[in-house]
Formats: sequence, C-alpha cells, structure tokens
Amino acid sequence: MREAGIGRVVVGSGDPNPLVAGKGIRILKEAGIEVTEHVLEEECRRLNEVFFHYIKTKRPFVVMKYAMTMDGKIAAYTGASRWVTGEEARAHVQQQRNRLTAIMVGVGTVLADDPMLTCRMEGGRNPVRIICDTGLRTPLTAKVVATAPEVPTILATCCPDRDRYRPYEAAGCRILHVPEKEGHVDLKTLMEVLGQESIDSILLEGGGTLNWSALEAGIVQKVQAYIAPKLFGGRDARTPVEGTGVPDPGAAFGLKTAF
Ligand SMILES: NC(=O)c1ccc[n+]([C@@H]2O[C@H](COP(=O)([O-])OP(=O)(O)OC[C@H]3O[C@@H](n4cnc5c(N)ncnc54)[C@H](OP(=O)(O)O)[C@@H]3O)[C@@H](O)[C@H]2O)c1
Repeated sequence: MREAGIGRVVVGSGDPNPLVAGKGIRILKEAGIEVTEHVLEEECRRLNEVFFHYIKTKRPFVVMKYAMTMDGKIAAYTGASRWVTGEEARAHVQQQRNRLTAIMVGVGTVLADDPMLTCRMEGGRNPVRIICDTGLRTPLTAKVVATAPEVPTILATCCPDRDRYRPYEAAGCRILHVPEKEGHVDLKTLMEVLGQESIDSILLEGGGTLNWSALEAGIVQKVQAYIAPKLFGGRDARTPVEGTGVPDPGAAFGLKTAF
C-alpha cells in the first residue's frame, strides 16, 4: 500500500467477524500506514447492520415491518387491509423485499389476504417466502403455493403427519418441520435453522399475532413502521402487535431511534 502511495487509511467501523477482527488494521499499522479509526462509526455500522448481526449470531437480521393508520390499525374491522399506506410507502417496501433475503408471515395473513409476497420492483429479486403455519392450514389454492415453482416457499410447521406434506411438496413448497412452543412454531429454533441455511435477513410482514410472538421470542432487530395519515377506528380492527401485551408501560419493548 505504501508503494501505491497510500499513507493514511480512515476506518469507519471494524469487521466484527471474530476470524478477521482487527487483523487488517494491524497489518496496515505495521506497514507504517497511519490509521484513523471509528469515523462515523454508528453510521457505518448501520450500513452493514445485516452482515454484522449475521456474522456475530448466525441468525437472520429480522425487520418487523407494518403499515398502520394514525389510530394504530393495520386493517379495517372487516379485515380489509388494502391499502393502508400510499404509493411511496409501498414502493419503499418493495425495495426492502428486494434487499432482504426472506419474507415471513403467519398463516393468518395468508388466510386473510392471500398475498404473493413477491418483489414487484422493476429488476427486483424475490425474497424466499416463509409461512409460519403450525398445523398446515395454508390452503393448497393459496397464491404462495400456486407460485412456489417460481418463488422459493417454505412452510414452517409442527405438523407431525408427513403424509400431509405431500400435496404442498408436489406443488413446489418446502416443508420445514420445527419444534412447537406454546402451541405454535418455535421462532427461536426456526431462526437458528434458517441461519444455518444462509438466510441472513428476514422482512417480517406478519399480522399482530406473529409480530407479538416474534418480539416475545427476542428475534426482532428492527421495527419499520409506516404510519398513514388516516384513521380507521373500530374496537376490533387489527393492530400491529397483539398477543397478551405487556402488563404495564414499564415492561414495554424499548426501541432506540435509528437515523
Ligand atoms: N397492514 C399490515 O402491515 C399488515 C400486515 C400483515 C397482515 N395484516 C393484517 O393482519 C390480519 C391477520 O392477522 P394475524 O395476526 O391473524 O396474522 P399473522 O400474525 O400473520 O398469522 C397468525 C397465525 O400465525 C400462526 N403462527 C405460527 N407460528 C406462530 C407463532 N410462533 N406465534 C404466533 N403465530 C404463529 C398462528 O396460527 P397456527 O398456530 O395455526 O399456525 C397464528 O394464528 C389480516 O387482517 C391482515 O390483513 C396487515
């Protein structure tokens, strides 16, 4: 590097990979090159948030994404949720689907919306689709099943009856058998298995039931909320995080502001 005329290197953030951490900087210093470290470190870390998390934990970086109204509803009381936000927010979601390796929902969202969960961005890449479906309730007629030959689709299930896997497998889906926890798919184990399969990031686009479980299981790294300047009302209209909820404000899941 010296021969190439480089006398000074500015480092934003080091590589957290334990196999390489600090090595490059040491080599540079030993070669007599001036190294300035930690410049805009937080910003640089954020640029690499997926890689840094995955390399340290071997589990996917999970982004919980939802679109809600200003009164905190993700659907009208009828269950209709198209559309909560406008075109700009939806375009941003498509970029996220292109950027992250997989997308995950619960079977409740498949039953309610029959979504495609693909990337509709021009030139975009489809994420691997993961449906958390404890008892294999996904209809064989669902769009995610019908399009499984073109878009990788995983049904994560606790169903022990392998005969019931066949029609899904014949349609092109992959069945991932995972242990059960409190009557549903064990999300922590699912993250370990997916991490081993090189799935480094997941856009969690579930309804409030799966979102709550994901928070409780401690698998969520980031929350991306799109808030539309609208009000739906409705005591029974669905909200982004359901489940039991925390008993008091002091027990809230705290979030740090990202820039
Ligand atoms: N606006 C938005 O951003 C948005 C996004 C998504 C959905 N939605 C709306 O949300 C509604 C659907 O809500 P939902 O809560 O039923 O959907 P969901 O959270 O996607 O699915 C819930 C189902 O996932 C299954 N599941 C599997 N493992 C689970 C686990 N560990 N924890 C929790 N659930 C697990 C459960 O059924 P089994 O145990 O039987 O498998 C559960 O009933 C629809 O109205 C939809 O339109 C809105």
